[in-house]
Amino acid sequence: MNVKIKHDPVDKAKADVLVVPVSQNTPLPAKSPAAQLDAHLDGLISDYLDSGDFTAELNQTALLRTRGRIPAPRVLLVGLGKPEAFTADHLRQASASAATTVRKLGVATMSMLLPACDLSPTDMAQVITEGTLLGLYTLKTYKSPKPEDKDNLRELHILDPDNQTQSALSKGVKRGQILAEAVALARDLANSPGNDVNPLYLADTAKRIAKETDLKCNILDKADMTKLKMGCLLGVAQGSEQPPVLITLEHNPHGTSEAPIVLIGKGITFDSGGISIKPAANMEDMKMDMSGGAAVLGTMQALAKLNYPRRVIGMVPASENLPSGTAVKPGDILRAMSGKTVEVINTDAEGRLVLADAIAYAVETYKPERMIDLATLTGAVVVALGSEATGMMGTDDEMMERLRKAGDHSAERVWQLPLYEEYSKQIASEFADIKNVGGREAGSIIGGAFLKEFVGETPWVHLDIAGTAWTTKGNPYMPKGATGVGIRLLVDALEAMPKSTSKSKTSAKSNAKTSGKAKV
Ligand code: BES
Ligand code: ZN
Ligand code: ZN
Repeated sequence: MNVKIKHDPVDKAKADVLVVPVSQNTPLPAKSPAAQLDAHLDGLISDYLDSGDFTAELNQTALLRTRGRIPAPRVLLVGLGKPEAFTADHLRQASASAATTVRKLGVATMSMLLPACDLSPTDMAQVITEGTLLGLYTLKTYKSPKPEDKDNLRELHILDPDNQTQSALSKGVKRGQILAEAVALARDLANSPGNDVNPLYLADTAKRIAKETDLKCNILDKADMTKLKMGCLLGVAQGSEQPPVLITLEHNPHGTSEAPIVLIGKGITFDSGGISIKPAANMEDMKMDMSGGAAVLGTMQALAKLNYPRRVIGMVPASENLPSGTAVKPGDILRAMSGKTVEVINTDAEGRLVLADAIAYAVETYKPERMIDLATLTGAVVVALGSEATGMMGTDDEMMERLRKAGDHSAERVWQLPLYEEYSKQIASEFADIKNVGGREAGSIIGGAFLKEFVGETPWVHLDIAGTAWTTKGNPYMPKGATGVGIRLLVDALEAMPKSTSKSKTSAKSNAKTSGKAKV
């Protein structure tokens, strides 16, 4: 879809639909573009608002005909909700609601007025672009198009009649497009079935991204993994006919001397549970178990296109998790690349196994300044936080604070869970250094505690996106299915991430025992 900034006066805008965002139970602000338009329409909009038929609740829409009074034949009012509760995400949602309503009309062009609000022009343009593009997202590969799917909407115009803010608006549009494209890529990967999106497909996608940007791509295959003694990643992959890969995408804006930020995403292209097989109900959704990996690929693409100024490396350990005669079994002991031995109690706790080797490889190879992993790691995080927030834990308070702020700003919220040392006792094994599950308590934290065994001194944050990577409810800019969560969050957080001079480990206050004395 094309996004353009237009400077026509509101009464001259050429579009099939002119979208007017309005605040709930609030008259049109005097002299605002909406009020000017209303004057040209002889009070059509204000009359309608006064009638009480349309309260401008968030995402409410109303279509009015303009009867030749302006070139655009239709005005679509879209509600922003209460002005005192207004956030950038409301404008993102309203833009998506407008776009999906306009799409149903089968027309080609919508033109959007900027609302009177305290967002910067850049932020407004960014969220309008994101909302529109993400709201219109569909997976196109598999469903034959029906005649009633009127997929004609091709142009979004952002209307700036004052012609004051062209460069600020263009910047927002560009950012919005880059982010929405990256999110769509991640959604496509996670929505597509496991018979197509297998580990090699993810590797090919990474190669394609590298070719289209100036990222460097490297793929480790099974032979490389064997040489590197990645026993955990190989252990998960041994039940499948599909070979595993460890994908690396490098963004090196100033060469390779700078210590990088490393992003690692779980890339299980189908998780059946393995020998500890999952129940059949909803197992099909486990094609999305590579959503962390998809988010890392999308984030790397976005960072490259945004010319992010720092060195970042994205890694995706990718494998299937299937049961077979060669599959890893409960009780088996795997030797991780770090040298630690792991007793596999439950083969369905495979994400932490593939991440363990990717983390150890990252630490050894790249000596990262900091590291963030994203993974659909535990069902327990869905129980704890539902689909409203990603679970976060880690060893670096400052990074977690940045991610929290970025989560609020991008509306991809994160919520911290503790990683007290005591939790690690739950993964002590009788027969190996550690085991891969730790009983019924604190399931998500135990996933984090397991990963912590492999990060060494590197400041690290783990994001458990099992509840946020997939939506059965949907929202205006998140159609049902894969959400592409993590990309907008990470880009926001990384842009705010200063170059660290000293390592800021988690403070004793936040991670030490709550009952005993704080550890110093
Ligand atoms: N991929 C699943 C986690 C998951 C659950 C993702 C729901 C998305 C939605 C993961 O590999 C898994 O199966 N985890 C187990 C861990 C358990 C065996 C300790 C789980 O959560 O049940
Ligand atoms: Zn699993
Ligand atoms: Zn899994």
